[in-house]
Amino acid sequence: MNPVASLPRLRDLSPVDRGRIESITRAVGVFGDAEIPVALEVFDAAIAGSPDYAAVGAELDGELAGWICWGPTPCTAGTYDLYWIAVDPGAHGTGIGTALLTRMERRLAGCGRLIVVETAGRPAYAATRAFYEARGYRRVAVIPEFYAPGDDQVVYTKALSSG
Ligand SMILES: CC(C)(COP(=O)(O)OP(=O)(O)OC[C@H]1O[C@@H](n2cnc3c(N)ncnc32)[C@H](O)[C@@H]1OP(=O)(O)O)[C@@H](O)C(=O)NCCC(=O)NCCS
Repeated sequence: MNPVASLPRLRDLSPVDRGRIESITRAVGVFGDAEIPVALEVFDAAIAGSPDYAAVGAELDGELAGWICWGPTPCTAGTYDLYWIAVDPGAHGTGIGTALLTRMERRLAGCGRLIVVETAGRPAYAATRAFYEARGYRRVAVIPEFYAPGDDQVVYTKALSSG
């Protein structure tokens, strides 16, 4: 893989991508073992056509290098949760995460009103928080000790322009 020379190609995901989705999601190193099956469950639902989840992948040089998954937040009007975003560590900083985020936002333009991202406050997520903040996501809440003692939840939102 030569991340510098190529632009990511965004595409729909299919069952054959499952193994690669799992290895990328594990490789980023911030998700715990218990979170991986949850990510795969959501991936399975998205590619099966569930109205609750949508997913997009990004290829670099013909190999899947990242994915994003989002869905409508139950019992809300036009609010969507970004559930998962993960990029192969070998390709971090090459624009794949931005391309995936932008694709989600474009897909939601017109039907979505607000995107919500729940992430963690611990140091391992500092680059992730910077990623969201630089892309217009506003830190709106911190729930202390949410995930575990000393492990806060940080909530970001971004308003989508209508039309
Ligand atoms: C956050 C993440 C999706 C960004 O993807 P990416 O392809 O590296 O992002 P891009 O190349 O489009 O943008 C790079 C930006 O992300 C940030 N970033 C986050 N992690 C980074 C990393 N390991 N290397 C380089 N940049 C990183 C940088 O601050 C950079 O910001 P800048 O362009 O404003 O300087 C990716 O780093 C990742 O998979 N992280 C681990 C999983 C994760 O935290 N998921 C979100 C859980 S809520």
